[in-house]
Parts: sequence; structure tokens; C-alpha cells
Amino acid sequence: MKAIDVGTSASYQVLIDCGLIRSSGVYIRKLIKPGKAAVISDSNVFPLYGKTVIDSLNNAGFEVYSFCFQAGEAQKNSTTYLQILNFLAENSFTRSDTLIALGGGVVGDMTGFAAATYLRGIPYIQIPTTLLAMVDSSVGGKTAIDLPAGKNLVGAFYQPTLVLCDPDALSTLPASVFRDGCAEVIKYGVLFDAKLFDHLYDKGLSFDREYVITRCVELKKEVVQQDEYDRGRRQLLNLGHTFGHAIEAQSDFQVSHGQAVAIGMAIISRACAACNLCSLQVSGAVCDILALFGLPHSTTYTAEQLYQGALSDKKRAGETVNLIITKQIGCCDILPTPISQVQSFIEAGL
Ligand code: GLY
Repeated sequence: MKAIDVGTSASYQVLIDCGLIRSSGVYIRKLIKPGKAAVISDSNVFPLYGKTVIDSLNNAGFEVYSFCFQAGEAQKNSTTYLQILNFLAENSFTRSDTLIALGGGVVGDMTGFAAATYLRGIPYIQIPTTLLAMVDSSVGGKTAIDLPAGKNLVGAFYQPTLVLCDPDALSTLPASVFRDGCAEVIKYGVLFDAKLFDHLYDKGLSFDREYVITRCVELKKEVVQQDEYDRGRRQLLNLGHTFGHAIEAQSDFQVSHGQAVAIGMAIISRACAACNLCSLQVSGAVCDILALFGLPHSTTYTAEQLYQGALSDKKRAGETVNLIITKQIGCCDILPTPISQVQSFIEAGL
């Protein structure tokens, strides 16, 4: 088993091992005195792993409750969030009780936000079941729900007590959802680690899952330890996301998050090559690896459309957008860019 210590304001471990879902209660009990535990999950994941987690928690002495909502980003809203809070209140959950997020990013983000705000904060455990949630959203304490005006517009930084990553859960993922997570994994290689990038380039979709998940979590941990509240270096994790979010929104979320991030990374790297910020080899390697993983690297949206989307980016500061630029494979930078220059930059990368 791999154990990674995350040293944020509240420190915790990420455990990575096959079969962890089956023994989740054992590991949770080591940290939390048995009381009430609410397993929060969705209609895709609960039928697959709900009973296993509930049995394991029962065996560890917890009094277990469960709340299951319809799967999908559309449910990550104030209605579902309030339903969770009411469910906890109706069942008399107190600050010494625990929430268990069992699922992908939507489940993890919303459960984390419910945990951050119910009674001004109760403990929660992340059990991510998608690749994206294992390598990104379950680590670092970003919790949120969406508003009609945009994704993740209400949230809090609130670290979990424990993250349990079971790579076996990936075997039940639809291929398209697995590929979506691969876009985030490739992102870590481009951002920080040429060796990880080379491994992915070499192995394609049959990459070593335990090695890759562990490496991505280590890389993310380094970043969030340095910048827990996303004021500087953590923004690097936004590589491909500024234009990716614009593509997701333009498509009315028909283009998935992973596909949109893949296209966003390709646009950025081509624009960087065109502006002599990196070589053509770098942008070529980024587009090649995306193709190898069956991810898109071009779009029919215009520079004007993507520019309009980029203006609503959360990381915009006044008249400047922080673009994450590729310099080399394994080395990227934050480039504050006047909004007047963003459209021509996108044009260069289309
Ligand atoms: N998902 C990006 C971050 O955690 O900052």
C-alpha cells in the first residue's frame, strides 16, 4: 500500500491500494471513533460499491446511513446540497459524526461542501471511484456546488480526514469516463514530470495505474502544500482549463470535462509554440499523446467564442487572465495576460 501524507492546515493521508473499498471501515475507524456515518453517493456508484462500504463500516462499529442522488453534474446544485443537509439534520448528525463521499468529482465536491458547512464543519472521508477524482478532486480540499451562472461558484477549502483510493474501482468505469481522467493525468506529466509523461507516451491506455495514481497524488500534494488557498502556484493545475471551461460551457456540457481540458491543453501548447514560448516538439508531443489516449486536440469553436468564455474564468484578476503556458514537457508557468491579448493568443493555438 502507498501512503502519502498531505501537510495542509489540516493534515491527512491518501492511501492507495487495490481492495481498499472492501476494508474502508478498518481504515476509517483508525482515525474516527465510531458514531454515525453517512455514505453520500450517486445512482451510478452506489449500486456498485454502496453495500461493500456500508458493510465494512458496520463491521467497524459505525451506525451507517446512506444518501444517494441522481448521477450527473446537473445535480451538483443547491437543491441536492440542501437535501443532504436536511438528511443529516433529520438523522441528528452531530460534529462527532462523519460523511463518506463515495463516487467521482461531483459526489466528492458536494459532500465536501456539505461537510464544510453542516454545523460549521464535520469530518469527511473521500473514497474516489473515478480516475479524475483519485488524482485531482479528492485531494486538496476544494469543495463546491454549481450555480446556474457557472461551475463551482459556491464552495470552501475544507480538507478531508482521509482519502482512500482503490484502483480496482477503475475496472467498472465506462471507457469514456476513464479517458476523461487520463486528460488530467497527462496534465500532471506536462506540468511537472517528464518521466511520468514518457511512461504515459510509452504505455498509452495500459499505463501502470498504481504508479500513475501515486505519482499524480504526490505531485498534487506538493502543489497544495505550497499554496493551499489557490493564490499562486496551485493555479498551475489550471493548465488547459481556462479554454477547456469555455468549450464545456459553449457546448452546453455536451463536451465532457476531460475532452475539453485536452483541447484546452492542445490550444495552449500550439499557441505557446507559435509565440516562441516553447518548441514545436513540445506542442507536437502534447497533441500526439492526447491522440494516443483517444482524446480530442482541436475544436470548431472560434477564438472569439473561447475568448468570451475565458473572460468568466474564476482565475481572472481585473483586466488580466492567468494563462498556464507550456515551456517544456514537465515545466509550465503562469503568464498573467492582458485580456486584450487573449483572443489573438487563442487564434494562434487553434
Ligand atoms: N483541481 C484543481 C485544484 O485542486 O486546484
